[in-house]
Parts: sequence; C-alpha cells; structure tokens
Amino acid sequence: MPATVVVGLQWGDEGKGKTTDLLAESVSHVVRYQGGDNAGHTIVIGDEVFKLHLVPSGVLYPHIVPVIGNGVVVNPQTLLDEMAMLAQRGIDTTRVRVSAAAHVTMPYHVALDRAMEARRGGGNIGTTNRGIGPTYADRAARTGIRMGDLLDPPAIRAALERILPEKNALMVGVHGAQPMELEPLLERAVAWGDALRAHITDTTGLVQAALAAGDHVLLEGAQGALLDLDHGTYPYVTSSNPVAGGACTGGGVGPLQIDQVIGVMKAYATRVGSGPFPTELGDPIGTYLLEKGREFGTTTGRRRRCGWFDAVPLRYAVAVNSVSSIMLNKLDILSGLPEVRLGVAYRLDGELVDRWPLSLAELERVEPVFETFPGWDEDLGGVRRLADLPAAARAFIDTLEARAGVPIAIVSVGPERTQTIVRTERPARSGASWGAVAT
Ligand code: GDP
Ligand code: IMO
Ligand code: MG
Repeated sequence: MPATVVVGLQWGDEGKGKTTDLLAESVSHVVRYQGGDNAGHTIVIGDEVFKLHLVPSGVLYPHIVPVIGNGVVVNPQTLLDEMAMLAQRGIDTTRVRVSAAAHVTMPYHVALDRAMEARRGGGNIGTTNRGIGPTYADRAARTGIRMGDLLDPPAIRAALERILPEKNALMVGVHGAQPMELEPLLERAVAWGDALRAHITDTTGLVQAALAAGDHVLLEGAQGALLDLDHGTYPYVTSSNPVAGGACTGGGVGPLQIDQVIGVMKAYATRVGSGPFPTELGDPIGTYLLEKGREFGTTTGRRRRCGWFDAVPLRYAVAVNSVSSIMLNKLDILSGLPEVRLGVAYRLDGELVDRWPLSLAELERVEPVFETFPGWDEDLGGVRRLADLPAAARAFIDTLEARAGVPIAIVSVGPERTQTIVRTERPARSGASWGAVAT
C-alpha cells in the first residue's frame, strides 16, 4: 500500500506545512523524516495559525497518527513545548510518536552551533542556531544520544560521562565558552525521558504495520532539495537529506513502498541564511515579495532573501526527488506586478548554460537569464478553479509545468487550507493517483 512523500523543491519555506495538512486529510499517518526544530511549518485554518517545528503537520486532524521518524533530530524541550502549545489550543497530542532511534539535540549541540557560527564570522552559513549540524555530526561520529536512551538513566549517565569531557574541551579550548556540568544535564535528560515515555517507540515498526494494514502514509520533508546535504549548495546547506530518498532512511519506508512524490514550490524563490541565489532581487520587487509574501522566518524571524522563480534547478530537483506531481504555492503573491519573470538559464563565463552547476564557485559566478511574462492585477485569494485564474497567471503555470516536466496538480492562492485549486482527484485510501491532471 502506498506511501506518499511531500518534499520541498527550493530552499525551504515553499509551504510544505500547508501541502502536508491538505493531503493529510485522506491518510492515516504523517511522518517527519529529517531535520529538526530548524523547520518551521505554518498551517492556517480559518483564523487560526499553527507554527510547527517538530510535530508533523497532520497533527491537526484527530484521525492522524503524527510520527517523528528516526531521521529527525529532536530537541526534547522544543517538542514538549510544542505539544503543550497544541494541547492548550485543544489539539490532542497523545497520538504523537517519536522514534527511539531519533537523535537528541542536547544543549551542548545548540551552544556549539552558535559558537561555530560566531567563529565563521562573515563567512557563516546562517544556520538557525538550533544545534542541527552538531547533532547530525555526532550521529555520524557515533557519539550521539538517542531518544530511547532517555528512558534509561544509567545509560544516559554513562553516555554523558563519555561525551561531555570532549564537548567541554571543545567549548572551552577552541571557542572560549563556558563548560557544561554533567549533573544538571543528566537531570534534564531524565526529566525529558519521563515526560516523553508514552511517545517514544519503534516508529519503523509502526509505519510498516500501517502499510501492511493497507493504510496510506504521508512522509513530510523539512527544508528543501537545494538545502540537501548532498544535492544542495554545499556548504550552504542543512545537515540532513530533505530529498525524497531521505524518507527511506529517516522515515522507515522502503523505496518501492513510495508511489508518489509531491514536490512543493512557490511562485517565486526565497532563501534564509547565506549561499548562492542567482535570481535574488535586491530591488523594490524583492521588497514587494518580502512584504506581500510575509517572508520572515517561521523559526528565527529573519528576513528571507527573495527573488524570481529559478527554473534551472527545478528539473534537477524534480529528477533527484522522482517528483510525480507538484503543488505550486503563493501564486496570489505575484498579483499586482507589472511583469513576472522566470529564470530559465545562466550565463557562465560568457556561455549560455541551462544545467544546475554543482560547483559553488560556478554558482557564485552565474548571471541569470530570464523569460518575462505579462503580470496580472486580480486578487486570486477567492479563485477555486483553474479556469477562473487570469490568462496571464495560467500562462505562467503552463510554462512552469513544461519546464518541470511533471504536472502541477495543485495551486495555492492563499495561506488558508481552503484557498486551494486542486487539478486532480484527491488521493484516497485506495491509492487513487495525483498524477493525472484534469483541468
Ligand atoms: P514550509 O516551511 O515549507 O512549511 O513553509 P513556511 O510555513 O515556513 O512558509 C510558508 C508561508 O506561506 C506560511 O506563512 C504559509 O501560511 C504561507 N502560505 C502557504 N501557501 C500560501 C499561499 O498560497 N499564499 C499565501 N499568501 N501564503 C501561503
Ligand atoms: P523549513 O522546513 C528555510 C537553512 C538555514 C541555513 C541552513 C543551515 O521551514 O522549510 P541549519 O540550522 O539547518 O543548520 O541551517 O539551512 N534552513 C532553512 N531555511 N527553511 C527551513 O526549514 C530551514 N531549515 C534550515 O537558514 O541557511
Ligand atoms: Mg518554513
């Protein structure tokens, strides 16, 4: 039975929260498979706005089991605070499940992330300062603490006795920061284990049992393909694999259990933090997108850098994720612009190229080449049928779709759950396809 992956195709903040929430209606489990509380996923239902960092976006439906998979790095304090916020707003969080194999972001990871960024000075990555890189580094170095360990106080003590002297040597010797004491850390970790005991489990077993029972599982990615550790603009990336393949390693599904990959993108581009961004706009149009699109980070409140949609990395992102169809968000934000542009190629050292350069040095040298479209003025917030969109907006969608090479199955025209144009059938438990476009 089918598993569907929702994956960002740009530099994050494409509207994955809205997409996941929309698709979650007809599935049984929503599984986050990578990233940590660096993510910020927004869901708007009527007048209510929910900003989620760790809890999967399906949590708002009472029939969903929200699962935090083994590939996620979990700051237990963020998770507890988020579950408390949801409970206070009347959302049942007793169903939330967290993988015992997910790695714990400890206070020393957060401190090291900050210290390392400060040392990088002007050449920093612009991380979210949530300790994501140091947590994944410890996972790879096999010096991490896992959520299951929090349930075993003697095991955490032994782990901290081994790990902490090394972290303190780094904190004090290299970064000139304060050391951390073992006993208070141990106390916090044991308290986290006690508070999360009912939620920590074997989530791979859970997901496999759901699939075996014929349930439809949705896997929710964080960040986006261009922030992928392997496929993104390294080193200006995050430390995990947001691409759809990450759903296998981090979500507990096998490759052949995935039958659909929904790529999420918005009608223009944004990037938070440092790194190349060929179609970035440093002019009033960039400010227009920033302000109208409310492009301020959900997690850090930072201004997002804004620019035109870049179709050059689109094909690449579609390919490395095996995208079967696309949800295009924030089309409404482009209303009111005299013209709309689309990056279609680069000029690199005098040559015209349409491939996505993997070399950072090349990416930093490229000049974008644009295709220009007439703009439109109509407010799109109330449009529910493709045929009711202005012709200029439809022409823009058609070009994006042709360049992606896969159908744009859903178009979003506002943040609210219902501000959505669905061009195909909804997925059903029977596994009905999102692939065919019916306009
Ligand atoms: P995510 O990280 O991919 O889930 O995206 P974020 O939640 O960080 O950022 C997307 C923002 O755009 C959120 O504030 C959403 O409420 C909002 N949003 C999503 N889709 C639309 C849309 O079609 N139109 C508008 N105006 N806002 C949208
Ligand atoms: P969602 O899931 C946008 C960016 C940071 C920084 C880089 C590395 O909401 O789309 P990290 O803290 O992960 O080590 O930072 O990645 N970044 C995001 N940008 N959306 C996100 O998540 C992001 N998560 C991390 O700004 O450039
Ligand atoms: Mg976000």
